[in-house]
Amino acid sequence: MVKTVKITKIIDECHGVKTITFKKQDLIKPKPGQFLMIWLPGVDEIPMSISSYSDNDEWSITVQNVGECTNSIHQLKIGDYIGVRGPIGNFFTIPLEKNKNLFLIGGGIGVAPLKFLASELKRLKHNFKLIIGAKLKNQLVFKNDMNYHDQEEFEVHFCTDDGSYGEKGFTTEIFKSLIKSMSREELENSVVFTCGPEIMMYKLLHICLENKIELQASLERIMRCGCGLCGLCVIDPLGLLVCNDGPIFTSTVLEKMEDFGKYKRDFSGKKISI
Ligand SMILES: Cc1cc2nc3c(=O)[nH]c(=O)nc-3n(C[C@H](O)[C@H](O)[C@H](O)COP(=O)(O)OP(=O)(O)OC[C@H]3O[C@@H](n4cnc5c(N)ncnc54)[C@H](O)[C@@H]3O)c2cc1C
Ligand code: FES
Repeated sequence: MVKTVKITKIIDECHGVKTITFKKQDLIKPKPGQFLMIWLPGVDEIPMSISSYSDNDEWSITVQNVGECTNSIHQLKIGDYIGVRGPIGNFFTIPLEKNKNLFLIGGGIGVAPLKFLASELKRLKHNFKLIIGAKLKNQLVFKNDMNYHDQEEFEVHFCTDDGSYGEKGFTTEIFKSLIKSMSREELENSVVFTCGPEIMMYKLLHICLENKIELQASLERIMRCGCGLCGLCVIDPLGLLVCNDGPIFTSTVLEKMEDFGKYKRDFSGKKISI
């Protein structure tokens, strides 16, 4: 069911990215990794990860301006209304054990669901390491929010392709350097949570498989219905739907997805290279 909600806060995060906050009273509390279908009457309805949620019913989405509907969202002002459906989909599974080595690895706008996950891990008093990457400094999302350097429990690594902020290079390289000195036992006691460009997540999958590390990845596909009806978000050959069976998939499933890292579908349903 679509609910109409009023925008209460808008933050300019970085180049082309805004966080939109609204009040939504719901009996169903969202979990990190879940998403919402955001409806702008006369424009479109599109999927957006929940980037934060607080107990006083404040929900946020963090939107990168890439096309018609995201551009219309960027034009909204405080006090405007949007239609919201959800929370939808499965979520990141947080281990019960506190002794696990947890890594959160986000690229570009993929950091959005990881911000919600990081705040939940902090609330549950889990330690974790965070790797955030972008092409350029002005594309690093949540550069200030996720700067947990003041807290000993969290280790944060920022990286940019050109070295304009943080370390120079890709998130995958930083991850490899962090696990280099870990024992087999420590590796097998690790979990990686990731969201970002699929090529990055594909590389991470292979690093994780080689090192017997559990991986949970949040996938993106073009969506129309967001509820398992249209089939546009199907991934071959397992026939899994990102909206209904995902958006989070584990390494065991990802390694069987032939499309993963290679193909997605366009708006007509035709397969195109990633
Ligand atoms: C589960 C899920 C969570 C998402 N979370 C976020 C988020 O937190 N923040 C965010 O900025 N974006 C997120 N996206 C991507 C977002 O939905 C698309 O960028 C958006 O639908 C584009 O709409 P548009 O009308 O602005 O662009 P269009 O004009 O429709 O298209 C512009 C470009 O975006 C591509 N695109 C369109 N829809 C999608 C899609 N669903 N996934 C990937 N690329 C798409 C098109 O192929 C085209 O290249 C998420 C997508 C999914 C599936
Ligand atoms: S978006 Fe229609 S089936 Fe997933």
